[in-house]
Amino acid sequence: MMKRAATTVFGEWAELGKDEKMAQGHESAVKNMLEAVLKNHTAYRFIDAGCGNGWVVRMVKQLKDCSAALGVDGSKKMVEKAQRIDPEGTYLNADLMTWIPNEKLDVVHAMEVVYYLNNPEAFIKAVYANWLNKNGQLVIGIDFYTENTVSHSWPEDCGITEMRLFSEKEWVSFFNAAGFESVTSWRVDPKEGWAGTLVITGTV
Ligand SMILES: C[S@@+](CC[C@H](N)C(=O)[O-])C[C@H]1O[C@@H](n2cnc3c(N)ncnc32)[C@H](O)[C@@H]1O
Repeated sequence: MMKRAATTVFGEWAELGKDEKMAQGHESAVKNMLEAVLKNHTAYRFIDAGCGNGWVVRMVKQLKDCSAALGVDGSKKMVEKAQRIDPEGTYLNADLMTWIPNEKLDVVHAMEVVYYLNNPEAFIKAVYANWLNKNGQLVIGIDFYTENTVSHSWPEDCGITEMRLFSEKEWVSFFNAAGFESVTSWRVDPKEGWAGTLVITGTV
């Protein structure tokens, strides 16, 4: 299969309606991630990095302690779809490797996004330095990682050029190297033949 950039492939998914099935598949892990993190913050500004069709932004902005929620995605088609579903919402089309928010935030969430970036370690460092307020928290969810061996064929299966494979220990080391404190990791919904969604979080 010819390989293409993740943002191109996911743009096609948005057109084909495959984004909705993807959201359903991610829902259980995302709920686990949000439950673990949002309780630590009040009047928080939230961003979903790699927001796809914006379903997490729409969910979080209804919560009483959320003061602002926005989404950023590198696929124009995903962002257009998010904006169509939620015309009042804030959804931006930008490359996460270079974009920096105008104003710092309290919670940065990224589900199934960071391994598509050409330098995940640099992204995690940038979030620490430029995105988050003091006591702000980054939480990422990852299904493509060394211990989840069933995922190793995905770059071929999905025809995506850039997919960076790291172990749980390596992901945790990226958070520690960036300066995050209280770094923790766990896996959501493991079962036979599936190591679960790897979740990592750390606080500024
Ligand atoms: C697997 S999808 C997950 C979408 C969403 N988080 C969800 O759970 O439904 C990965 C998303 O990351 C976005 N993405 C990939 N590389 C990106 C980049 N460099 N900058 C911004 N977004 C990117 C894709 O466009 C896609 O929407």
